[in-house]
Amino acid sequence: MPLRLVVSDFLLKNNRGKQPSGLPRKPLTQLALHRLEHDPDPKGRASAKWEPVFANMTSDHATTVRELLAFYLEAGIDCALGDEPIDHLSAPDLATPNIATPAPASDGPITAKTGTAPVVAARQPSRQATAAPRAGIAPPPDIAIESAREAARTAPSLEALRALLESFEGCALKFTASRLVFADGNPQARLMFVGEAPGRDEDIEGLPFVGRSGQLLNRMIAAIGLKRGDVYIANVIPWRPPGNRTPTPQETQICLPFIRRQIELVNPDVLVTLGNPSTQTLLQTREGIMKTRGRWFDYDTGTRAIRAMATFHPAYLLRSPSYKRLAWLDLRAIAKVLEDKALGQPAST
Ligand code: URA
Repeated sequence: MPLRLVVSDFLLKNNRGKQPSGLPRKPLTQLALHRLEHDPDPKGRASAKWEPVFANMTSDHATTVRELLAFYLEAGIDCALGDEPIDHLSAPDLATPNIATPAPASDGPITAKTGTAPVVAARQPSRQATAAPRAGIAPPPDIAIESAREAARTAPSLEALRALLESFEGCALKFTASRLVFADGNPQARLMFVGEAPGRDEDIEGLPFVGRSGQLLNRMIAAIGLKRGDVYIANVIPWRPPGNRTPTPQETQICLPFIRRQIELVNPDVLVTLGNPSTQTLLQTREGIMKTRGRWFDYDTGTRAIRAMATFHPAYLLRSPSYKRLAWLDLRAIAKVLEDKALGQPAST
């Protein structure tokens, strides 16, 4: 019994009215394990509805599938990426990085030329706008970093930057993530938050901070009298690392030019880095969040200095609620600077 049939069947049956590859997808293991729990017919032939799933499945098979799915879950594989399996071992050009010509941006030409070849795939008109490709291989990090720098520098707008990222193939995370998680909120915001990388919920929805930590972030934003739609939210890394693992230093360096350009284009009055990785990457400090939180930094875009503050990541606050008091102090300080700037007063920090 091929597992593929189980996966396809669950996707089809649990995403009614949507194509298997459509949005949003339900988590694979949750659906499959639920199915095995709730209709565990030992011969697998009880229900015509599930006939295709259990057509050739004995109770041994069911146990094997259950164990395999549990193993996947533990390994961080918690949703199906596609409806058809991909045999990576038989892919013809595994050794060759997919380096193609740059894609034009939606609102203006982008000439992402580099000393090395630009790592931007030719636009594929038939591909769903936000869906990441399922197969591919990233080039060596030094080529990818160089290409990212060159490409990001040339993006004239946020839309162009998003288009560039959609076609950028220099970061391996793109090939395991379901889609790009670019940003949410108001591109004209005076306040911008930057987290580390999307998690599972963000990967499913294509928006940053929509899971449990996102809900806490919404409450943090509300605590200073703003709504989520008043601020701009992004991540240093715009693709979910598999199993929510920590991004490697190379992955961070490859994505860094894009988030730096994103900050420059949003040009907020105040930039807030959420948690250690985002703080250390963007504010160029090696100190930990306990030392950096609540302090003002100057974030240098290259053309101007933006006031920046580090605070705790909402996921950390969910695990350690006693630190919410300090996060609240940070938010008060941020609100004060925004107020002073709105009144044209010199910042009082
Ligand atoms: N954590 C992050 O750093 N970013 C998200 O978008 C979600 C969780």
